[in-house]
Amino acid sequence: MTCIEDLRLLARRRVPRMFYDYADSGSWTESTYRANSDDFGAIKLRQRVAVNMENRSLAVTMAGQHAAMPVALAPTGLTGMQHADGEILAAKAAEAFGVPFTLSTLSICSIEDVAAHTSAPFWMQIYVMKDRAFIERLIERARAARCSALVLTLDLQILGQRHKDLRNGLSAPPRLTLKNIANMMTRPRWCMGMLGTRRRGFGNVIGHAAGVTDMRSLSSWTSQQFDPALSWSDVEWIKRRWGGKLILKGILDPEDAVLAAQCGADALIVSNHGGRQLDGARSSISALPAIVEAVGKQVEIHMDGGIRSGQDVIKAVALGARGVYIGRPFLYGLGAGGQAGVARCLEIIRNELDITMALCGHRDIADVGRTILVPGTY
Ligand code: GLV
Repeated sequence: MTCIEDLRLLARRRVPRMFYDYADSGSWTESTYRANSDDFGAIKLRQRVAVNMENRSLAVTMAGQHAAMPVALAPTGLTGMQHADGEILAAKAAEAFGVPFTLSTLSICSIEDVAAHTSAPFWMQIYVMKDRAFIERLIERARAARCSALVLTLDLQILGQRHKDLRNGLSAPPRLTLKNIANMMTRPRWCMGMLGTRRRGFGNVIGHAAGVTDMRSLSSWTSQQFDPALSWSDVEWIKRRWGGKLILKGILDPEDAVLAAQCGADALIVSNHGGRQLDGARSSISALPAIVEAVGKQVEIHMDGGIRSGQDVIKAVALGARGVYIGRPFLYGLGAGGQAGVARCLEIIRNELDITMALCGHRDIADVGRTILVPGTY
């Protein structure tokens, strides 16, 4: 396993089709999904020589939390379907490595499950739901679990259509149709893992949310539960209710970045939801510079979308991101090899980042800026 692509190929063999496809897809034509990584490829690095490369440091703080490198694990739905107990395993790998882990509201393992198996504080991602009492309880549960930041997602009040999920009849747990059973039989390790755990449904929601008729289906419960009337005053309400660090996720436009900064967020994440929401939107990395320009002095800026290597991480940092989030890369690691696979993903990215920084002539990630990039390529 030498690169993230190796992990992806193994995950594709080990994870049932429905869940591999869920992770590895974008909405509609997937043009934004592709642009996220393609646009990183177009940015060129300046090679420097005869500079001292000893004693390198990648450590940063993200939203006040120490990170061994400027990378956090993104909140990803149904992580516990890529591998049994997936969220617990990924959180443990992140803790051992020293990077923040973010738990999705749409996780399989619950907040309490993850808290019981880790000691480092993790971050909790939430959506604004119509059922405000559910959100209030979720915030209280995050507090009780000692979560150190809330990550509020602003770009998914309605779900962008992902063709593969419709064709595959995505659900958690999967329905036992002939097609699904036949596919799962070709993934015996995954099946053994799932037989050995009780965590097979949406752990944060089952038993906690009222009025959802089909708890297995992501699309039906997002359409029943998520509040399409979300506004900036709801964001302020959540900020007051939580009282701790707040990170706003899903900002792609400088005008929204200004509004997000006015809300007093501690950080914002430049993101198009991994190309899973508005197909045709620009890539996250191409949106980053204008947002840094607009609000970078007032608020910490993070980004996600398209990171597949340490080179991508350093390009985002050079363009002003304090840190980035990886979603699919760690999911590939998880599907390929559980906790060890996530650890391998983090090692791969760290090694690529470390060597790339040195070859660009730097020893401390804190000193990396636009000067490492070839002008005209970003
Ligand atoms: C959920 O956040 C998804 O993108 O499926």
